[in-house]
Amino acid sequence: MRKAVCPGSFDPVTNGHLDVFIRAADLADEVVVAVLINKTKSSLFDVEERMEMLREVVAPYPTIVVDAFHGLLVDYCRDHGIKAIVKGLRAVSDFDYELQMAQMNFRLAQVETLFVSTNPLYGYLSSSLVKEVATYGGDVSGLVPDAVLPRLYERVGR
Ligand code: PNS
Repeated sequence: MRKAVCPGSFDPVTNGHLDVFIRAADLADEVVVAVLINKTKSSLFDVEERMEMLREVVAPYPTIVVDAFHGLLVDYCRDHGIKAIVKGLRAVSDFDYELQMAQMNFRLAQVETLFVSTNPLYGYLSSSLVKEVATYGGDVSGLVPDAVLPRLYERVGR
C-alpha cells in the first residue's frame, strides 16, 4: 500500500489544506493528515480539537485518516511505512523553506516530498490569516470548512 502524509499545524484546517488532502488521496492509497504536536508554539485550538475538526472534514474521504506526531516527521514516516510527504505550494514565497525541508527530509531518511500547486482560489489563504480576519470581525465563510467556522467564531469570541 502506498501511503503519503500531509503534515502541518492545521490551527485550524482551511479549505486550502482540504484541497491538498483530496488531491493527495488521488496519488496514494492512504493519506495520513498528521498534526504536529508542538508544545512550544501557542495555538488557538489544542491538538485534540484540531484532530476532531480534521476528522469531521475528511469523513467523506475513506482513504484519508488523521493522526498526530511529535519529533521529526521522517521518524513518523519510518514508523508508519510512509515514503512520501505531500504539500501544497501557494506561491514563490513558500518555495525556499519548503525546498529546504524537502531536501533535509530526503537527506535524513530518503523520504520524498511531492508538491501540488495550490488551487488559485486558495492561493492567499493561511490559518494565521483566517484567524486574524475572524478575530477582527471579518467573514471567513468559504475559506474554512463548515465544521470549522462556528468553532472558530466561538473561539475568537464572536
Ligand atoms: O503547518 P506548518 O506549521 O507550516 O507545518 C510545518 C511542519 C509541521 C510540516 C514542519 O514544521 C515539520 O515537519 N515539523 C516536524 C519536525 C521536523 O521534522 N523538522 C525538520 C523539518 S526538515
